Amino acid sequence: MSGPSLRRADSHSLIHEAALEEARELTELLERSLCRGERDKAQGIAWIAVEHWESRTLQHAQSEEEGLYLEAVELKPQLRDVITALTRDHNLMRELAAEIKERLERGEMDEQVLQRFQALILIDQIHNRDEEEMVEKELEERRHGAVSGPKVDGPAAG
Ligand SMILES: [Fe+2]
Ligand SMILES: [Fe+2]
Repeated sequence: MSGPSLRRADSHSLIHEAALEEARELTELLERSLCRGERDKAQGIAWIAVEHWESRTLQHAQSEEEGLYLEAVELKPQLRDVITALTRDHNLMRELAAEIKERLERGEMDEQVLQRFQALILIDQIHNRDEEEMVEKELEERRHGAVSGPKVDGPAAG
């Protein structure tokens, strides 16, 4: 989940959508259990869901901060503000996931926990849209340029 696949809007978008879809399904299951008053079941689902956020989206965020985002700013220093904003989104998601875990560790399983999972989904949706837009407009353009470059300079061009 790193390297070239993150520099392409299409493959990057697939990574986002797969993780988000699972998160949506888990959150719906959680909501249903909570509505039915199945507290233990809800708690179990909440743990699975928070671990899902950590191992997928937050892990993905970390690899972006260690790779893609550094490359982006190096290539185009004017992207610094965009990268700062995207990193802030990651931090909000980290904060929400940490809060959920604290609540679960205290044995709390209520509407507050559900709301935080729903907030994670909404923030992630907006974040993904903005990040994919940046990749498509700012990074792919250069990739295409780099790929077509040698062809133009090759024997065919002469
Ligand atoms: Fe991403
Ligand atoms: Fe991201």
